[in-house]
Amino acid sequence: MNRHPLYYLIQNSTLMSSLAKNYGTPLYIYSEKRLLANLDRLNNALKTNFNKYHICYALKANSNPALITKMKNHLTSLGADCSSPGELHAAKLGGIDHHECIYTGNYESQEDLQAAYNSGCHINLDDINSFHRLTKIGIPDEISFRLNPGFGKGTFSQIITGGENAKFGVPDYDIVNAYRTAKNAGVKRFGIQCMTGSGILDPDYFSALIKDILKNTNVIHQELGIRMDYISLGGGFGIPYQDGETPLDFDRVFKKVGDVFNAHFKKDAKPSFWIEPGKSVVGDTGLLLTKVTGIKKSYKTFIGLDAGMETLMRPALYGAYHRIYKVGVPDAKSTNMVDITGRICENTDRLAVDRLFPKVSEGDLIAIMDTGAYGYAMAHQFNTRPRPAEVLINGEQSCLIRERETIQDIFRTCDV
Ligand SMILES: Cc1ncc(COP(=O)(O)O)c(C=O)c1O
Repeated sequence: MNRHPLYYLIQNSTLMSSLAKNYGTPLYIYSEKRLLANLDRLNNALKTNFNKYHICYALKANSNPALITKMKNHLTSLGADCSSPGELHAAKLGGIDHHECIYTGNYESQEDLQAAYNSGCHINLDDINSFHRLTKIGIPDEISFRLNPGFGKGTFSQIITGGENAKFGVPDYDIVNAYRTAKNAGVKRFGIQCMTGSGILDPDYFSALIKDILKNTNVIHQELGIRMDYISLGGGFGIPYQDGETPLDFDRVFKKVGDVFNAHFKKDAKPSFWIEPGKSVVGDTGLLLTKVTGIKKSYKTFIGLDAGMETLMRPALYGAYHRIYKVGVPDAKSTNMVDITGRICENTDRLAVDRLFPKVSEGDLIAIMDTGAYGYAMAHQFNTRPRPAEVLINGEQSCLIRERETIQDIFRTCDV
């Protein structure tokens, strides 16, 4: 059985209790060691298999500037994938120059496009109409389009971003048209991007995807004479959220992708190979430390926490599963069938449903695992609950990287 990489932290009740005491709960805790190790594993696998490559960390997963700075200092070539002017700003705060960023929006406003254009980042457009809107601002020297190849994959239907039901990307039957429009308008250099879903643990999927992308770039080349400067496979590299799941072996994944990619291009005509990983970089580096606030025996048994759907949206949003442990005794025998919930006035406020769980008491500390990605990033203020604090740990050293919001902060922009 694969133990969670942060299992050792959950066993350390002294450390967890002191973090709860010093910073309060609910609290997002990130392991610097795990964060940098994840980045190294990706970078080493790419280095072995590609002459030219670029990692654009997907800021949507977690845009805390302290985490970005740590990553950038560790891997100086790191770029960012941004999907809003706010994420472009976060990249800058984290020390990533906009020339190293790719901006992938969808249904962008003129203000969004203006921000991307002004920043000097690589622009990846979701639609031909996005290009038409962009031309009102200016014609960039370089453009990329997001390809929707007509299929996708992901842990839940809601996070599949390719295929006929996806709102993203240019359908493959229109992709040549998109590049033709851009070329005719005066664009000189090109990239292509394709992101078809998140949380993929199938090691063979990515080589199948690159084959399809290359099929499309071939047609674009034949029809328009365009050679891509870069090809981005997007993100989507999954992580195990449950004990039985097998983590992706990046060496194997990128060897297979690299074999297809390298065989396709002549030595001197190879584009740079890009990825935009989010979850696979930060997902398992974070845990959410929370406290039991109430236990109720009703038709079901409920364990109530001081974290809920406002702190961690994924379970309520997708029915996502997160491992949840009682701090200090992660291997305690699970004897009770419970729902784990927060304090929000919504019946969808569940962090776990029908979960076998050990006996707990009010005040016990609970850890929710794999919350580094799309955890804080999706936290909100429903029921006027301030968002939690974030802490980065290195061994037993801790550093507050975002203060807990206050009720006053929530109303700071209101005119009262
Ligand atoms: C364009 C793009 N790139 C990268 C990502 C990151 O995906 P993941 O966190 O699954 O690696 C996403 C996620 O939705 C995305 O839309």
